[in-house]
Amino acid sequence: MEVPGDKSISQRILILASLAIGTTKVSGISFSEDIKNLIKNLKILGVKIKKNKSSILVYGVGVGGLNSTKKSLYMGNSGTATRLMMGTLCNQDFEVKITGDKSLNKRDMGELIKPLKKMGASISSKKNKLPISIKGFNETMPIIYNQKIPSAQIKSAVLIASLNSPGLTTIIENIPTRNHTEIILKKFGAKIEIKKEKQKKIIKIIGQKELYAKSILIGGDPSAAAIVGSAALITENSKIKIKNVNFNKTRIAFFNVLKRMKANIKISNKRIISNEEIVDITFSSSKLKGIHLSKKTVANMIDEIPIFSILAAFANGSSSFVGGEQLKNKESNRIKSLYEGLYACNVKVKKKNDGLEIIGKSKNKVVGGAKIKTYYDHRIAMSFLIMGLNSEKKIIIDDKDCIKTSFPNFIKLMKQIGANF
Ligand code: S3P
Repeated sequence: MEVPGDKSISQRILILASLAIGTTKVSGISFSEDIKNLIKNLKILGVKIKKNKSSILVYGVGVGGLNSTKKSLYMGNSGTATRLMMGTLCNQDFEVKITGDKSLNKRDMGELIKPLKKMGASISSKKNKLPISIKGFNETMPIIYNQKIPSAQIKSAVLIASLNSPGLTTIIENIPTRNHTEIILKKFGAKIEIKKEKQKKIIKIIGQKELYAKSILIGGDPSAAAIVGSAALITENSKIKIKNVNFNKTRIAFFNVLKRMKANIKISNKRIISNEEIVDITFSSSKLKGIHLSKKTVANMIDEIPIFSILAAFANGSSSFVGGEQLKNKESNRIKSLYEGLYACNVKVKKKNDGLEIIGKSKNKVVGGAKIKTYYDHRIAMSFLIMGLNSEKKIIIDDKDCIKTSFPNFIKLMKQIGANF
């Protein structure tokens, strides 16, 4: 089986292909709600995007070549598209208003607004939240950005904003995050250089260099594979092979954690496609062992913390994570939503300031029997549905609509492989 194309790469390629010279053919793109909204927004800004059977074509307009619009850009649920587009709009000499759904409108954009203002953008908002109006400049200012809070979205937005800078922008990543933007920029011919310095990454980019379109094939989303594969781990006599999953080193913290939890997972068929590692992953029923996650590990599996917390409830012994401050500013406050959901399902769980401790059940079942508040967070919704596969009493989620944000065919696909949803 396969999972949808990686959402992070899909968003980046749509934006960077729009800013390139020439036509980019993209295969394997995710057709989730976040991506559909982004395509609509890029079209509003004058980019021609055509959908074929299995691929899409993006006709680039060059950096700074977008059209002005009186319409607002509606980003739906996507924090990534919002931040990446804010970076993109810094290179445009017109004002645009950006809005989102009720969950996105609650998320703080302050950490990104700071560097973008330094680069010359005028940004107005109430309390750093959407709706935001942004007016760029046709030449952004190069900056040195020492990134204190790890965030791939913010790093990427600054990188995109620097594409029209007459000089060198430097980003110091104290805790390195996913690097898909850097990979695509390199492939498209940007003048970008990345150096490792102990734990840090130093990224240097010189702006005002054209990007050139190159065809790209996107592998399956590892965060989606994490959720589907976990179903096999907690179900007896179960085995699932997920083919063509992106296995970029900055995305695999969760799979390394699974190995530490003694999960039966096998990685095979490693290869490089479009400068990214792609593999097949086989997940089989496992007797999991509880473990503790450090701040650095958590930073690299922010999207997998919900499914990790579910697995922890089935593991032998106690598990915990700390340093999840950014978890509070995701599609929901994930520490709160996980705590409430686990508690309601009768799992022993303790709240910490920026994490949780979860005491697992060695007998491989949890009680369940609750209606979970998803707070419109797709990963919370899917994770608790997975928990319901092996709970004594039914688990109900209050909203399944949010799942389409990243994985529109999740319920259908899970039913096909035997889930009783
Ligand atoms: C993403 C980065 C992560 C992740 C999000 C997608 C991206 O957020 O949680 O779902 O595509 O850049 P951070 O910006 O906190 O790293």
